[in-house]
Amino acid sequence: MIKLLTIIGARPQIIKAAALSRAIESGFKQEVAEVILHTGQHYDDSMSEVFFREMQIPQPEYNLKIGSASHGSQTGQMIGGIEEVILKEKPDGMVVYGDTNSTLAGALAAAKLHIPVIHIEAGLRSFNKQMPEEINRIACDHVSTLLFSPTLTGVKNLEEEGIVHHENEKLSFDSQGVYHNGDVMYDNTLFFRQIALSNSPILKNLGLENKAYILATIHRPSNTDVTENLAGILRAIDRVSREKKIEMILPLHPRTLAILKRDESRDSMEVIQANKLIRIIPAVSFLDMIRLEAGACLLLTDSGGVQKEAWFMEKPVVVLREETEWVEIIEAGNGVLTGPDPEKIISASLKYLDAPPQNYPPIFGDGKAAHRILEILTTVNWQ
Ligand code: UD1
Repeated sequence: MIKLLTIIGARPQIIKAAALSRAIESGFKQEVAEVILHTGQHYDDSMSEVFFREMQIPQPEYNLKIGSASHGSQTGQMIGGIEEVILKEKPDGMVVYGDTNSTLAGALAAAKLHIPVIHIEAGLRSFNKQMPEEINRIACDHVSTLLFSPTLTGVKNLEEEGIVHHENEKLSFDSQGVYHNGDVMYDNTLFFRQIALSNSPILKNLGLENKAYILATIHRPSNTDVTENLAGILRAIDRVSREKKIEMILPLHPRTLAILKRDESRDSMEVIQANKLIRIIPAVSFLDMIRLEAGACLLLTDSGGVQKEAWFMEKPVVVLREETEWVEIIEAGNGVLTGPDPEKIISASLKYLDAPPQNYPPIFGDGKAAHRILEILTTVNWQ
């Protein structure tokens, strides 16, 4: 029996962890025991609890309740708390997801205690070190023992940083195994899509049934914390909605909602309030988000996860960033990088509304990534 300590903390990790917990429950209960630790990075009901209720994720055994703080302080407090739990639980491996401060804290705490780190969503790079997530990814990958990359680009990125796979090497703290195994988020979308289509009341609640609409999310500090960037994105949203007479639905992260209420966002708020087609709502649950994505004709986002979900739902996406880790979407022509530039956002949106792309080949796996990860974890040569 292998004992895994799983670290979650931010909304996307809670979602990703659901896939592995589900796969353990359905096929690996005799071989894998999972202990879940929530750092408390996300604490609002709409950012955390709702996902546990809705996605059948086991409640975490530990919650460090760290909450919001500066990056260093938040990460530091997490490392201390995670270390205590590792010493108590003595896991065989530490599972971390993605690229948040919780990921980095888990990886560092485990690596310092010589516990093998299992990084799910390894190898992704934006090549922009201004992003806190890029620092988190690089540091985490370099101290990880088992690296599961959802894309071949991720495997190539790791190779270029000297992280290479030695087949059949005995798993030790010093070895590194790289696996290309598909995306656990695709597992989740496939699993929850049908449930969302039949159960989510969101379209009815918003009066969107049988209506065309665009779905937009904005939460990256580079977009929210620079007044003119947020204003530019909202101006573009206003123009597209007026030109196409189409509703714009914006489920917003609490950080973006808080910034919009500030004095410096007055111009943006005026734009929003003057256009009845723009609807701002609080962050929604996973099933509601999936339902909204499935019904939208176009997505605008600066989220990594939503970019991929757009692909899974076969919808074009305008990426409100200068670069992306999911380069395959851009290379296929089903996404455009616009940053916060209003003209670029408008022209990409109009192009996709007039001629939506038709091809979405299966580059993110077959929906069985979590199962495959567990197969590797249960057969790998643990010492
Ligand atoms: C974090 C991740 C980001 C991920 C995002 C998903 C890092 C560095 N970034 O960013 O990669 O895409 O989660 O949502 O870890 N806040 C609340 N309620 C909450 C959580 C946050 O109001 O439940 C507000 C607080 O004002 C907080 C701010 O959002 O200061 C930032 O939260 P934080 O968790 O530090 O980063 P995110 O921006 O959410």
